[in-house]
Amino acid sequence: MKTIHLAVFPADGIGPEVIAASRQVLRKLEQLHAGVRFECREFDWSSAYYHQTGAMMPPDGLQQLEAGGFDAILMGPVGSPTIPDHITLWGLLLAIRQGFDQYVNLRPMRLLPGVASPLRNAAQHPINMVCVRENSEGEYAGVGGRVHQGKAREVALQTTVFTRSITERVMRFAFDYAQQHGHQLVTNVTKSNSMQYNMVFWDEVFEQVAAQYPAQATDQQLVDSMTARMVSQPETVELFVASNLFGDILSDLGAALTGSMGLAPSANLNPERQYPSLFQAIHGSAFSLVGKNVANPIASIWSVQLMLAFLGETELAAQLMVAIETVLREQRVRTPDLGGRNSTTDMTEAVCQALEAASAPARPR
Ligand code: IPM
Ligand code: MN
Repeated sequence: MKTIHLAVFPADGIGPEVIAASRQVLRKLEQLHAGVRFECREFDWSSAYYHQTGAMMPPDGLQQLEAGGFDAILMGPVGSPTIPDHITLWGLLLAIRQGFDQYVNLRPMRLLPGVASPLRNAAQHPINMVCVRENSEGEYAGVGGRVHQGKAREVALQTTVFTRSITERVMRFAFDYAQQHGHQLVTNVTKSNSMQYNMVFWDEVFEQVAAQYPAQATDQQLVDSMTARMVSQPETVELFVASNLFGDILSDLGAALTGSMGLAPSANLNPERQYPSLFQAIHGSAFSLVGKNVANPIASIWSVQLMLAFLGETELAAQLMVAIETVLREQRVRTPDLGGRNSTTDMTEAVCQALEAASAPARPR
């Protein structure tokens, strides 16, 4: 019996609904596979917790999480209309990304059969892209300050920080991942035409790491024209590596191109597994949908799938992906974001049913 220890954060907005859906899928996996157990410890750190305590997590929150010996963290969206976003995000999600050295944010963007893309010609252009986003520094380093607030001479600085060690590690991750998953082309997303220090440095590190992978084809794209390429020629994009902010923006574009924000998953990885990695849908807390049982749980469930793959549960990950693909392809059950009228619960049950079929041992002929 293998036990996987999970820290689970329902967090904000529709988070409790999509996390409950994800936990239902975990229970179904346990039923279908006698050899694996998911031991979940739920944490109530969230915007509601902030309203009670004045902080998003206890002062020793990261230590508590580290001491818990968790294999991974499963988190709902963070953010509330009643608290400024930079307070909630720096108080929880961004603190964990930095504190746990989760320097890769892996975001697959794949248009699955049965899902409509807003691109007219999507049928001729398969969309299957992977974003490897630097996740712990860059534009989100959290370095800066403000002086003379409210005065005419006010100054606000948000300093972008790139370090060689992290830049190198994220590039190496991108190349290794491309190699392992058979991506023919690795694209460096940059803006070195205008940013002559950090982005020229970024390109240099990319070239240096690329030289260690001579068989890997690469190209380079300025981030502004990358948006156009992703829309006009998405079939030419396979795996790209981008800075924190650029990757953030491009992955929302990718999510929209692949049908719905309600589908897009993410993995905040500490690839060395020195700290637990964090898995989360990339959508927001969507307060307008709260309590209506209409949120699409797939983004969170697909994040669970990324978690299983990262933890080396290859078979479970493969079966869960088949289940997600089956539900979307069949289109019998669709939440409103996909043009249907089904509920979060319907969608979750459909995934669980498809999982039963995907896990059934092949019948002897
Ligand atoms: C994401 C989110 C976060 C980010 C926000 C909520 C800070 O948009 O995971 O993409 O910008 O990284
Ligand atoms: Mn984002």
